[in-house]
Amino acid sequence: MGKDRVVVGITGGSGSILAVRLLENLTGVEKHLVMSENAKTVLGVEVGKTPEELRSHADFTYQDSDLTAPVSSGSFIFSSMVIIPCSMSTLAKISSGIADTLITRCASVALKERRKLILVPREMPLSTIALENMHRLSLSGAIIAPAMPGYYTNPRTADDMINFVVSRIMDLMGVENNLIKRWKQ
Ligand SMILES: Cc1cc2nc3c(=O)[nH]c(=O)nc-3n(C[C@H](O)[C@H](O)[C@H](O)COP(=O)(O)O)c2cc1C
Repeated sequence: MGKDRVVVGITGGSGSILAVRLLENLTGVEKHLVMSENAKTVLGVEVGKTPEELRSHADFTYQDSDLTAPVSSGSFIFSSMVIIPCSMSTLAKISSGIADTLITRCASVALKERRKLILVPREMPLSTIALENMHRLSLSGAIIAPAMPGYYTNPRTADDMINFVVSRIMDLMGVENNLIKRWKQ
């Protein structure tokens, strides 16, 4: 058996830096990356990076419009998919079964195949519609892991808060990491 495969989807929610930090720290797994068009815009606005710079941290990258990519099929085995950040728009699409992009298709596959799907929404406040979509997705097996840092680690910088969220996501993916000092450890 080769390395575990993970699919990282990046959408146009705020918080592209979370995806950058995740990709930089994910080691020991085969990384498959898909970015939505809006994710590319937000990445430029918030982090000042190009999609190409991010691609260098992945083993395979695909266009979000490419529904023929390997990850669009249930026959492509992956251990987890994380969408970070996950926009309310992508969240709504997945919760209603719309799979018209590679990211939403791959997420639908994860749900139907009962594989780990981790969604990292970033929105505040949350509308009733968004909450209902999250509820529905949670009932279907997705893990809703909002980009909410804890404060018990006494974060001093934005970096500390980013590391907190990314560390918890990596824990959920089952990938070892030492990004944060753990509570009483
Ligand atoms: C700078 C910027 C920040 C945004 N932040 C958020 C956000 O935090 N959450 C969200 O749901 N949408 C946010 N949006 C809006 C999404 O990008 C928009 O709904 C888009 O259609 C999402 O498409 P996608 O899910 O295909 O990437 C933001 C847009 C921009 C330009």
